[in-house]
Amino acid sequence: MKQALEKIELLAKAELEKITDAEQLEAFRIRFLGKKGELTSVLKQMAGLSAEERPIVGQIANRVRGGIEAELAEKAAQLKAETAARRLREERLDVTLPGKAPRLGKAHPMDSVMHEIEDIFIGMGFDIVEGPEVEYDYYNFEALNIPADHPARDTQDTFFITDNILLRSQTSSVQVHVMEDRKPPIRILSPGRVYRSDAIDATHSPIFHQIECLVVDKGITMANLVGTLDTVMKRLYGEECKIRLRPHHFPFTEPSAEVDILCFNCGGKGCAMCKGEGYVELLGAGMVHPKVLANCGIDPNEYSGFAFGLGLERVTMGKYGINDLRLLYENDLRFLGQF
Ligand code: DAH
Repeated sequence: MKQALEKIELLAKAELEKITDAEQLEAFRIRFLGKKGELTSVLKQMAGLSAEERPIVGQIANRVRGGIEAELAEKAAQLKAETAARRLREERLDVTLPGKAPRLGKAHPMDSVMHEIEDIFIGMGFDIVEGPEVEYDYYNFEALNIPADHPARDTQDTFFITDNILLRSQTSSVQVHVMEDRKPPIRILSPGRVYRSDAIDATHSPIFHQIECLVVDKGITMANLVGTLDTVMKRLYGEECKIRLRPHHFPFTEPSAEVDILCFNCGGKGCAMCKGEGYVELLGAGMVHPKVLANCGIDPNEYSGFAFGLGLERVTMGKYGINDLRLLYENDLRFLGQF
């Protein structure tokens, strides 16, 4: 038995040497010290020893067990230290490395221009209102003095959902909603998407954006329209900016005008951007037609108003010198990052 114990002692030493991780160490503990382990199975035979032999073998057995336990504890401590050292080495964080800068997004150029325009109008006491994009024929056409057989409908061919419901072709429809809902004085700005059945090219898109303006009060005249536009365009394009009104026809305004601004590229001399004109067409405007006021329950003998509608794409393209509308929709970050 003495030999068997010493053999276990030697074997345990040799086995312990080979151990490299905690799992192997646990297997070792079970194998040598466990209830069904090698040492226990030898000790079970002690019952068969004589009274003289038993204490001697007992002593050896205790020494062997103590020795294995001590070495196991030492190995465990060593493994723990090694693991800690390895983790320190492998998980080291170099706090002096340059950080990764988060990529900051920014507003789309059309959003920037829209917010700039909104801010100018809010500063002048206007409310920003929104109207529906899916609209009744009545709001988009009929109430705006464009009856079913009116030729103006041909210029704004849109997408019909039923005979009576369509995707709005102009934000002017919001004028009607606002005048139905509010009593004068009215001062609103309404940006939003509009739809037309147009093929896509450098200056057309079936979906684009307009900003509508409406003012209704007692004693509103063309001078208020011109003054407002002049102030806004100077804020938007700089103090040198000049506006020019050309007579035009819109069914829902009388008189009506198309408004141009002095070409910001050439200052009026004529260049490619203004096609040699010196001025760039910017928006449609006019005095709200008395019939439109009456349609919305506002007495045209008591009140008058002005309105205008501008294309957000056109203003954005003009402001940044963008020559193709499609660039605004493609969301290519290399393009958008420039603004
Ligand atoms: N709604 C017109 C269009 O889409 C633009 C317009 C013209 C709006 C004159 C107005 C206006 O408010 O008074 O072509």
